[in-house]
Amino acid sequence: MRLLIVSNRLPVSLTQKNGEFHSEKSAGGLVSGLSDYLGSLKKSSTEVTEYLWLGWPGISVNEKQKNIVREKIKSDFNAAPVFLSEKLMDKVYLGFCNKTIWPIFHYFPNYAVFDRDFWDEYKRVNEIFRDDLLDIIRPGDIIWIHDYHLMLLPQLLREKVSNPIGFFLHIPFPTYEVFRLLPHESRTRLLTGMLGADLIGFHTHDYSQYFLRCVLRILGLEHHMGRIDLSGRSIKVDTFPMGVDYNKFNKFQIPDPHPDLPDKKNLKIVLSVDRLDYSKGILNRLKGFELFLQKNPQWHGKVCLSMIVVPSRIGVDSYQEIKSSLDELVGFINGAYGNFRWTPVIYQFTSVPHETLIAMFRMSDVALLTPLRDGMNLVAKEYVASRNDKKGVLILSEFTGASKELSESIIINPNSIDEIAEAIKLALSIPEKDQIFNNSAMQLRLRRYDVTRWASDFVHLLNETRRLYSQSFRKKFITNEVLDKILSDHRKASEKILIVNYDGTLVPLSDIPKSTKPTPALLNLLKDIEGHTNTDIVILSGRSKENLERWLGNIPVNLTAEHGSWLKEHKYGEWTQLKTLSGDWKDDVLPILEVYTDRLPGAYIKEKDYSLSWHYQKSDIEQASYITRDLTDHLISITANMGIQIFQGNKVLEISNSGINKGDLARHWLNKKKYDFILAIGAGWSDELLFQSLPKRAYSIKVGLSPSEARYLLEKQSDVISLLKMLKEQKVGVTL
Ligand code: UDP
Ligand code: G6P
Repeated sequence: MRLLIVSNRLPVSLTQKNGEFHSEKSAGGLVSGLSDYLGSLKKSSTEVTEYLWLGWPGISVNEKQKNIVREKIKSDFNAAPVFLSEKLMDKVYLGFCNKTIWPIFHYFPNYAVFDRDFWDEYKRVNEIFRDDLLDIIRPGDIIWIHDYHLMLLPQLLREKVSNPIGFFLHIPFPTYEVFRLLPHESRTRLLTGMLGADLIGFHTHDYSQYFLRCVLRILGLEHHMGRIDLSGRSIKVDTFPMGVDYNKFNKFQIPDPHPDLPDKKNLKIVLSVDRLDYSKGILNRLKGFELFLQKNPQWHGKVCLSMIVVPSRIGVDSYQEIKSSLDELVGFINGAYGNFRWTPVIYQFTSVPHETLIAMFRMSDVALLTPLRDGMNLVAKEYVASRNDKKGVLILSEFTGASKELSESIIINPNSIDEIAEAIKLALSIPEKDQIFNNSAMQLRLRRYDVTRWASDFVHLLNETRRLYSQSFRKKFITNEVLDKILSDHRKASEKILIVNYDGTLVPLSDIPKSTKPTPALLNLLKDIEGHTNTDIVILSGRSKENLERWLGNIPVNLTAEHGSWLKEHKYGEWTQLKTLSGDWKDDVLPILEVYTDRLPGAYIKEKDYSLSWHYQKSDIEQASYITRDLTDHLISITANMGIQIFQGNKVLEISNSGINKGDLARHWLNKKKYDFILAIGAGWSDELLFQSLPKRAYSIKVGLSPSEARYLLEKQSDVISLLKMLKEQKVGVTL
């Protein structure tokens, strides 16, 4: 199986000097993690046998140079370039990605720029990626799209190919209140764009939950255990905390002496490593270190803060501003506290290779990582993994994804300069045996869930999700052969019955219950099926008998109202009961429903003879989703002995007498004659009992794509009407 990795950054970025192309390793965790994972593929046997990495080569080139770039990165890095003009990258990479999404998703809305052009060009770049991919994709490839530069790409591709598509976000997903700062069109499209994937991954449970909440609030789509059902597809949202190549960091042999390492003398080293980014909390870290020096003169001359700061996104103003503040603060601290023998802050504005970093990690007594927000922060994990002596202390911001897995470190709030200063003091005093104890626990976790495990879990679940949801659905789709068989069996049979659910099956689901009155065309269709083809029709519904009588009472169909509390056999024209029911329980349940109605603006109760329904179509969707869960639990707990049942419908809870379900109802109608053609169609979960109760030879059809006991699936409600029209016309050899 070939894996297509798609990201804005390729593992290398090209530069041009004197007409020659030079490549250097790209900065950032995405490239580090994925490169280590792809490197591990050669050593182990996995589902992935081949890969290709598609992305921007970091440079804009003219037509003539494109082939040279293509060949260079294909042969050296197994990658394919997506060429983008400088103007486009200005508006998209420096613009929408790093001046709009990045600040919003990292909770820096004051840095965010909202520019219509940025957004339009962002859409364009996602389309360019799609078009390039379409030239490359082969059947059987799996496509794994990465990060915030390409959030529209999953949906753009989904419209064109049926390959499995995964999407992983490497940065935090913000809470709803922050996400909604994005203009209406972009916030909606970013979500629907991501939902084009089969599997969407985040580093932490919180980010997954925030995403699901935005999907609910903005798109109105609910989820069940992280699964979102869309018409025709299911999407899984899950958490995969990215790991590091543990063995690479832990087992690496450092050359002795190492040419790039400082002379440690008797100094304690506090190390920090990050890209120059306002989200990394670099200024707060310096202020914290300064406060530590101010409060602890006994440490003067004995400790230094060694900072590796990697240049990043130079073209964005907010990044340049932070560079000046950083230079100033370093100068101030060294001037105020340092002397000829001691420089308190050593600062390198460059990127160093992993080999040097590992050596730096091993010689540092403390790693001080203080991001104000960070999707994961691989450096924290790399520090712990590198310590093969198990010594060293990690101070880590609680606003990093990594802090969830590294709880034995000293966790701080980086907004508090005092906490940073205190943490440095504490870290320098932790005895070696405690350092070893804490690091051992963290190393165990990092070894088990390393970067290979992270990627293989994702790829595995992506394949599983497709297999479970899509393929099993596809197998059940009504093919033309099945359709022919249904139609010819129907034509040949002498006693025929059609059992069909009303809302969602005969008419589309609607938030306004009154609006789904049957049209004259539907009434005529049902009349004709009954009359021309001699088919008994039973309509099942949770609606009141008055409602059904008004809408369907004049056509020759059998009706069941209030989930089976009332039945009307057309030829007798009377509403009767299948068994004696009681409505006494309503006195106990109504007050409970009233309490929840008061708590949920827009909710209302409808009382019927033997059932109650609690509607919340007009309420806030998120609040309704929580309160409905509470209400269901409450009802279940107090009604256990009352003989009633609770159904979840489309934005409605239905409470009725237990002991009558759609299975019993089906048996009741099927016992009336010796039917040699049975067709049952339903859309809700209560129809599952109907499907289960039917004899094997019956045709059962579920509307919508979710796991079902039905023999076949139809994608949408309008397909039911097409099928009914074919039944009426009794033609074989037609298609839906
Ligand atoms: N890194 C590096 N050389 C450096 C500084 C950092 O190779 O001089 C690597 C570091 O080892 C890590 C990545 O860059 O793998 C940074 O990832 P992280 O998740 O910490 O932050 P990001 O830059 O992605 O926000
Ligand atoms: C973060 C992002 C990556 C990005 C990296 C470096 O890790 O999640 O998508 O590649 O920073 O940033 P850059 O702008 O240089 O690609």
